[in-house]
Order: sequence, then C-alpha cells, then structure tokens
Amino acid sequence: FRPAPVLAIETSCDDTACAVLAQDGTVLAERVVSQTAHAALGGVVPEIAARAHLDVLPALTRAVLGDAGLNLQHLGAIAASTGPGLIGGLIVGSTFAKGLALARGLPFIAVNHIEAHALTARLPSVAGPGGLSFPYLLLLVSGGHCQCVAVRGVGHYERLGGTIDDAAGEAFDKVAKMLGLGWPGGPAVEALAREGDPEAVDLPRPLYGKPGCDFSFSGLKTAVSRKLEPFGRAALPLRDAADMAASFQACVADIMADRAEHAARLVPDATALVVAGGVAANSAIRQALEGVASSRNWRFLAPPLRLCTDNAVMVAWAAIEHLRARGDAPDDLTVAARPRW
Ligand code: KG4
Ligand code: ZN
Repeated sequence: FRPAPVLAIETSCDDTACAVLAQDGTVLAERVVSQTAHAALGGVVPEIAARAHLDVLPALTRAVLGDAGLNLQHLGAIAASTGPGLIGGLIVGSTFAKGLALARGLPFIAVNHIEAHALTARLPSVAGPGGLSFPYLLLLVSGGHCQCVAVRGVGHYERLGGTIDDAAGEAFDKVAKMLGLGWPGGPAVEALAREGDPEAVDLPRPLYGKPGCDFSFSGLKTAVSRKLEPFGRAALPLRDAADMAASFQACVADIMADRAEHAARLVPDATALVVAGGVAANSAIRQALEGVASSRNWRFLAPPLRLCTDNAVMVAWAAIEHLRARGDAPDDLTVAARPRW
C-alpha cells in the first residue's frame, strides 16, 4: 500500500458517487449523481437503481479523476461500499472498483456503508483542528437507516438501538405522501411545518420515555393517517396540512431527543453527539439533538449535508481509517457484496 490518494465508489442506494481523497482526508475531487427516475415512482426501485449506477459509473469515475488531475496509476487504493444496501447497486459498484484494482494492481478496500457514515465526523474538515476522538455517540437517521451507535474506535461499534419498524426518513416520506407532498418528503414536510403550529395536533410518541434506545414510527404514521381520514380524498386545507406537518415533525424531534438521551447514558465517557443521514438536515431535529449534547457539555457535530447523505467521500475516508488502523492489509477480491452486512 502506497500513501497515495484513495478512490472510492458508493452505489448502495440511489446515489452514484465517486471521490478521491488524499491520505490526510483532503478531498481532491468528488461528484454525486442522484437518480431522478425514482421520484415519479414514489420510492427507490432497486432494479432501476442498479442499471443507472452501471450507466454512469465509468464516465463519473473518469470525470472525478480528471477533476483531481490524477490517473489511476497515481492512486494508492480503491474502495467501495460493499454493504449494507440494495444488492444490485452494491454488486455494480464493488465489481467496478474491484475491476479497476485488479487491472492496476491496486489494493481493494471493502467498506461498510454504515461504518462510513459513522466515521465521517472524524474527517478533518468536519471534526476541526482538534479532531474527534473516540468514543462518541452516533445517531444515524436517513431513509434507510435509523440507529444509535456507540463509536468506540475504528472497527469497534456497538449498536445501542434501532428502529423496530420504519426508518425516520421513511416516516417523513410516508407522511408527506399522505399530505399530498412530493418525494422525498422530508424537505417538503419541513417547509410546510414552518407555516404550522407544532402543538395543534395531538400525536402519539411511540417508545418515548421507555427504557432502551429503540425507535418506532409506525404508530405515529398510523395516527397521522387516522387524523386525516375525515378529509377523505378532498384536498386538505393548507392550515390543517401545515399544522399536521409541524406536529408530526415536533413529535419525531421529541422522540429522537429522548432516544439520544437514553443512548448517551450508555456511553458516559463520550464527548460528542454526532448526527448523520438525510434526516439530519431537519433543523427542528438538529435543534432537539443539540439540546441533548449541550445538557451534557458534549460537542454536537452534524457534518455538512452533502456528507450526511450518501456520498463517496465518507467511503474513501473509512478506507483510509482502516488502512491506518490495520496497516496495509487490503481485502481479497473475492469479498462479496452483503446487503445485510
Ligand atoms: O441519507 P439519505 O439521503 O438517503 C438514505 O436514505 O440513505 O436520506 C434520505 C431521507 C429521505 O427519507 C428524506 O425524506 C429524508 O432523508 N430527509 C429529511 C429532510 N431532508 C431529507 N427528513 C426530514 N427533514 C428534512 N429536511
Ligand atoms: Zn446511507
């Protein structure tokens, strides 16, 4: 392994991403192509996603290397997300990366996508000059993930709790659909919530105050649907829709803060609460979590949105952290994509 830049590929869901990072974490180039075909279908269609990754990967990789002013021979390693995620996309991205590694005699690093989210906050550009030391508490909240993780070191993670039904982003997307808003629903619900009263609608807060750090959103989603029943297929008056959006959002923020508070007690030696995933874009949720961190004198770290959502910078950085932690052992090219890793 040469201390040269690392090229990384991310294809676990509906974003095709490629990045090149220097060993010190400096981003030399990165691009993300977000698939738009799914919006009209109301969610990610795995087969369409996999084919779209295949269509864009070669040109995307060439463009990213061009942006960085590098060729494949300048690289020290090639990394790819190999799980968890949608199997088709994982196979496309990891096989592409393995092919490049094999052709150029470069080490291949198989990266766990969740681990990449977990280590993003340690990127020098996010952690700041003092860095971010272990342990810290991570709340990963996106359309596909919803979990509390104690991050104790590279390769040392403890899942403290997760959702027992829907992910938080999924709940936002479903409520958005009920309110007649577009997909993805999170940003639309947040925008509408600004016009509404967060206390207008009485909604349940599943698992709130209960021991443990698990999440549940399905009862909340059902409650929203029941409250909307009287309106039938008629369009909801704007005021009611805004009140519902605001009340739902406040509810999710309360649940998150409560679960984070419970998780924080399990990692007493932590010094930071880190939030990642698309839902971390939500300012009401950020504010609630910031409160949990400040009550413990912890740092609150939310990577910039482009690093919170799926990207290849985090994949390259996780590979660099691994190469540092375990010396120069690359992964075998026979390592398989693991949808449930
Ligand atoms: O991390 P992400 O881009 O993709 C994965 O799921 O891996 O997260 C997307 C999710 C979607 O469910 C979207 O509705 C939600 O994050 N989201 C938000 C906001 N922006 C995106 N949820 C609440 N408020 C937002 N502002
Ligand atoms: Zn993700």
